[in-house]
Amino acid sequence: MAGLGASAVKEEAVRVFRETWPGCEPSVAVAAPGRVNLIGEHTDYNQGLVLPVALPMVTVVVGCPSTDGIISILTMAKEADEPKRLVFPVPSEANPLSPGLPCWANYVKGVIQHYRAGPLPGFKAVMASNVPLGGGLSSSASLEVAMYTFLQQICPDDGDLMEKALTCQKAEHTFASMPCGIMDQFISVMGQADHALLIDCRSLEVSPVPLTDSSLVVLITNSNVRHTLTGSEYPTRRKQCMEAAKALGKESLRDVTMADLKAAKACLEAEVYCRARHVISEIKRTAEAAEALRCRNYWEFGKLMVQSHDSLRDDYEVSCRELDELVAAAMGVEGVYGSRMTGGGFGGCTVTLVDAAAVEKTIEQIKDKYSGTATFYTTKPSRGAHVLKL
Ligand code: GLA
Repeated sequence: MAGLGASAVKEEAVRVFRETWPGCEPSVAVAAPGRVNLIGEHTDYNQGLVLPVALPMVTVVVGCPSTDGIISILTMAKEADEPKRLVFPVPSEANPLSPGLPCWANYVKGVIQHYRAGPLPGFKAVMASNVPLGGGLSSSASLEVAMYTFLQQICPDDGDLMEKALTCQKAEHTFASMPCGIMDQFISVMGQADHALLIDCRSLEVSPVPLTDSSLVVLITNSNVRHTLTGSEYPTRRKQCMEAAKALGKESLRDVTMADLKAAKACLEAEVYCRARHVISEIKRTAEAAEALRCRNYWEFGKLMVQSHDSLRDDYEVSCRELDELVAAAMGVEGVYGSRMTGGGFGGCTVTLVDAAAVEKTIEQIKDKYSGTATFYTTKPSRGAHVLKL
C-alpha cells in the first residue's frame, strides 16, 4: 500500500470491509499519520526536546459498531506474515485482554484495553496503512492512534488529546513491551499541516514551527534494512540514561548541563558517559535547530542535523553502516543542507533537508552510492489524526 495516497488506502479498506462482511456497511473511517523526526533523537524519554513532523502517510481504520459484543478486526498489512483476522469478545474487568500473537494485534489490543471511556460496543473494522512497516516512521504509533480515534467515534471519550497520546504510549509499553517515549504518539495525535512541532517532553508544551518554504524539501530515504538489535538496545539506552541522571542526582538528563556531566566523568562508566553526552548535546541542538528553522537559516539547521547524526553514531551507537552510507551520499550533493538518521536507529530511514532544485540529483546520487536498495519519499508536514468522509 506504500505507493497509495490516503484516500486510495481508505477506498481499499472499504472494499475489503464489504467483501469480508457482505451486507454490512462501514459507518466510520479515520486516519492517523506516521512521523519523521527532523532532530531531537532519543531525547523524549529524557524529558528533552524533539522536532517531528506528521507525514501524509497514514494508517486508516474503517468499520462499524455491532450489537453482538464481538470485536472483529482485519489487517491489510501485506508484510504481516501472521493471521490477518482477529476475533475476540469486548474486554471486561473479569476478562481483560492480554498481549500475545499475532504481533500486529498487540498495538490494537493495548489501545482497546486502555481506552478511557466505555463500555465499548463490539465492532467490525479493517485496518490499512501506507506507512512503511518497521521503517522507523512510527507505523506502530499511527496504528495505535488510528484505533483510538476509531473508538472515539463509536464510544466518545472526553476528547482530551494529551490523554489520548499518553494512552496510546501506555498501550505500546504494556502490550508491545516497547518502553518508548511520547514523541511518536504525540505527533500522530497533534500534528499540524505545514508545521514541524517543537515538543517539550517535560512540560508537554508545543511550539509549532512553520515549514512552508517551497524551495525547501524534506526528503526521507528508507534504507530498507532493520537490524534485530532494536528490541534489546532501546531499553538498554533508556536505562543507561536513567543511571547517568541518578548518578548526578537529577530526575532526568534534561536537568543536567554539559558542565555537570564533565565534572562527574570519573564516577560514570565510559559508555554511560557517552550516552549522556549525546542526550545533553542533542537537547541543545534541537532548541537551536528550531530557532534556525524559524529564521529560515537552513545551513545552520543542516549543520546541526549532521552533528546529531555523528553523535547518534559515535556516542549513542544506534546508527548502522547503511544509515551512515545514506547520510554520506546525501551530504556529497550540492544543495543538501543536512542529513541524519531518524527514529530509533539500527536501520529504518534518514531525513535530509535539501533545496528543491537539488532533490532529483540527491536521489540519483544516493541510488548510485548506496550498497543496498533505498526507497524515497518527499513529504509535506500534515495534520494529526482525523475523521475521514465515507
Ligand atoms: C522511537 C521511540 C520514540 C523515540 C525515538 C528515538 O521512535 O518510539 O519515543 O524515543 O525512538 O528518538
